[in-house]
Parts: sequence; C-alpha cells; structure tokens
Amino acid sequence: MLKTRFCETFGVEHPIVQGGMQWVGTAELVSAVANAGALGFLTALTQPTPEALVREIARCREMTDRPFGVNLTILPSITPPPYDEYRRAIVESGVRVVETAGANPREHLPEFHAHGIKVLHKCTSVRHAVKAEAIGVDGVSIDGFECAGHPGEDDIPGLVLIPAAVRRLSIPVIASGGFADGRGLVAALALGAEGINMGTRFLCTREAPVHQRVKEQIVANSELDTELIFRPLRNTARVAGNAVSRKVVEILDEGGEFPDVRDLVAGVRGRKVFEDGDLDAGIWSAGLAQGLIDDIPTVRELVDRIVAEARELITGRLAAVCR
Ligand SMILES: Cc1cc2nc3c(=O)[nH]c(=O)nc-3n(C[C@H](O)[C@H](O)[C@H](O)COP(=O)(O)O)c2cc1C
Repeated sequence: MLKTRFCETFGVEHPIVQGGMQWVGTAELVSAVANAGALGFLTALTQPTPEALVREIARCREMTDRPFGVNLTILPSITPPPYDEYRRAIVESGVRVVETAGANPREHLPEFHAHGIKVLHKCTSVRHAVKAEAIGVDGVSIDGFECAGHPGEDDIPGLVLIPAAVRRLSIPVIASGGFADGRGLVAALALGAEGINMGTRFLCTREAPVHQRVKEQIVANSELDTELIFRPLRNTARVAGNAVSRKVVEILDEGGEFPDVRDLVAGVRGRKVFEDGDLDAGIWSAGLAQGLIDDIPTVRELVDRIVAEARELITGRLAAVCR
C-alpha cells in the first residue's frame, strides 16, 4: 500500500486520480478506476443535460460500490451550460468528491461544502493554487506544461511547478501532467505531492470508451507527437498532432482569428475521432505522456502495476542508494 494524506482526505485507496475527460469520463471508465482503488471523475459536461448526468451517476453506481467523483469544467462561453443545475445534480446524487477545473470555483464551493462534498480544484499555476486554497478547496491538482488539455500560458513543467506550489500550500497537492507509471508516482511524491492525476494514460486503457485506433495511435506516438493549439489566443490546448491540429496552428500563426478555426476545432469533430476512430476527423487531447505509453492494459492492471512499481522503486533502488 501507498498511503498519503490525500488518500485519507478524499477516501481513496491509492494516491492515483483519473481527471475529467470530455467524451471519455463515462461510467465505463470511472467505475473501472473506482474498482481498482483509484479516484475517477465522471465528466459532467459529457452529459447533454443535468438529468442525463444524474442517470450517468446512477449507472456508475451500478458498476461499482466504491467512491468516485464528478468533474465540473467551468469554461468561458458565450452561452454557458447551466452550471447551477449540474451542481444540483451532483449534490442531489450524493456524490462525495468533485473536481473543478477551468475557472475559479468560488461560487460553487458553499453548496458543495454544505453537503460534505470534498473539492479538488485543478489549476495550472502556483498563484491559482494559492488562490484556490484561500477560498477553501480541499486539495489542488496541478497540471504542468506536459499535460493534455489546457496547460495555461506559463509553460512551467511539473519538475518546478509542483515543488514551487507545495512550498506555498498546506492542503494536499496532486501532481498532474506527464504521469504514466510508477516512476512518475515516486517522482511526484519526492517533489512533495500526495499523488498523481492522469488523463492520457487512462485514455489508453481497455475500458476507456474510445475507438481502438485512438489507443493504438497513442501507443505508436512519442513525446514529440503533440501540438499546442490556440497559443495566439492565449487559450493554449495540448492535443495529439494530426492534420487538423497542424492546420489550426497554421491558420492562427498567419493571423487568423477564432472564427477561422471554429469549424475545425468543433467538439462534434473531436467526438468523431473517439467514436469512429477517424484520427484526422478533428482535434483530440493527448499529452507528452504518450512517449511513456507502450500498451493498452485494463485499468486494474495499470493501477496495480503503478503501485507495485512505485513500491519496488522506493524500497529497492532508492533504498539501495541510501547507503
Ligand atoms: C481526452 C482528454 C479530455 C480531457 N478533457 C478534460 C475536461 O473536460 N476537463 C478537464 O478538467 N480536464 C480535461 N482533460 C485533462 C485531464 O483531466 C488531465 O488533467 C490531463 O490529461 C493530465 O495530463 P496527462 O494527460 O499528461 O496525464 C482531458 C484530457 C484528455 C486526455
């Protein structure tokens, strides 16, 4: 066993988290993560309505009797989703843990805390982590520059970002971005984190509800196969490199604006990649961790392997160094 304060605060066996993933964080994956003793998050906005989220939470409960959470990603949007209704769906479903991301979760905290729900806020900088602690979140998950999805605009990799955050915070810190194996978990613990969060690695498991070709592409890809899109818009996203991501970069680098790439980056296109395995149908998130991924295990095999590898590393090679 590997036990940290995070395990106790969030009621989970292993210090391993599966962060929210649009189109991927459904009951199939999240229940498998829970059954393996790690903390998985259903992705609220993958469900078209708050009512559908209630049903998805119920479906997940049928597949596991272990704890799991819900990710609430708060995105800047012209017509925002009904966040209050999603929040109510989470609270009324009796979920005990929420991962917030994308923006300051301040307006959601009182209701979550009033119902005893722990909040793990995901952010990408020390200043945002410090702010999150000040407004009362129970833990922070910090995404370094390596991560899939939105790494922010500071470009600080985890090796510096995690210890820089840990020394400013007293709540548990989860290291995120670029983690895929036991070595990463041990490194995160050494840097002062109390666990790891993974997206790309869980995307490439048997239970992830995406087409087999996506998983095979992750295995084939190396750490070089990502693209940073939306840089000129200061809304950077790290995605798997493909014909569409390269086109988007080209258009924006030549002075294009968001409306010029809107169709290329549409969510429906990305969803098609995952559903049909058409790898150039749209953009899909994947991180540098692709360079560490060589197989498509079950979630349980993956979690057991990471924990065993980490333990062996701590009690074996690292203990041997301390002579
Ligand atoms: C396919 C995919 C979709 C994602 N969608 C979301 C999302 O909707 N909300 C969110 O907070 N994070 C999202 N993420 C980010 C992950 O939760 C996690 O923070 C990130 O993947 C960690 O970096 P890693 O991929 O190197 O492990 C997504 C990641 C992937 C791979």
